[in-house]
Amino acid sequence: MEQMRVMTVGDVVGPEAAAWLGARLPELRAEYELDWIVVNAENAAVTGPLPQNGFGTTRKELDALIAGGADVITGGNHSWDGPEVAESFAYPQVVRPLNVRETRGKGVLTLGEGDRTLTVVNLLSPGAVGKGCLAPAPTDLWDAWTELAGSGLLRGAVVVDLHSGSPSEKAWFSGAVDGQVAAVVGTHTHDGTIHAHLLPGGTGFVAELGMAGRSGFSGYGFDPIHFVKEFRGEDTSSLPPFQLATGDFTLGAAIFDIAGGLTTSVVRVDAD
Ligand SMILES: [Fe+2]
Ligand SMILES: [Fe+2]
Repeated sequence: MEQMRVMTVGDVVGPEAAAWLGARLPELRAEYELDWIVVNAENAAVTGPLPQNGFGTTRKELDALIAGGADVITGGNHSWDGPEVAESFAYPQVVRPLNVRETRGKGVLTLGEGDRTLTVVNLLSPGAVGKGCLAPAPTDLWDAWTELAGSGLLRGAVVVDLHSGSPSEKAWFSGAVDGQVAAVVGTHTHDGTIHAHLLPGGTGFVAELGMAGRSGFSGYGFDPIHFVKEFRGEDTSSLPPFQLATGDFTLGAAIFDIAGGLTTSVVRVDAD
């Protein structure tokens, strides 16, 4: 049975990171002999002063990633940030969260044919939509998945980007779909989890991929002072615009070898 290899990359943080990753993707594709590259880019653009709703994507970052060879670009709670939401959703490569009330764009994308058919699904946890977030309220994850599984849209090897702040939620979801999909990858919290799991039914699982961007600020890639002050119940209105980290570039990613719609091996890629 034909094998295919998919690399998934965690949240790209900032335009400089989008340019950096776009420039690195061709060598990564060659080095790891990748068939498909899936990148979460919900933080690729900086579009406003607040980290709650000042990220998203614009054409500039999408074009840099696609020029480098990104086949699918997923999103999350920040997919509704900034002035180019409609333009971003219109890209053939862009997948936004499926389980929201939104008519623009798509939550599922199928690429390729035969043994190389890949379907990517993006789901957004209701728990990842916080104060100030512009994303529409997500529906229940399991209800959304059950409806999708019965729709006939899941073809070939299925990779789910589950955008959630809860490692447990991501683990329970991966267990619930074990044997039905090739991979479940977690995004949203930027600080990558260590382990790459191969579940008993053949689903590969990484709870949090990490991020592509400059390191610093506890792995988030940007100064979380707005969230810290909000957590303390303090006024955040006088804070300056949030700042991106300035450390070295870091890549949080995982590579899945897939045959017959299930994963045969999964490894972490943590490259500088
Ligand atoms: Fe993110
Ligand atoms: Fe997020």
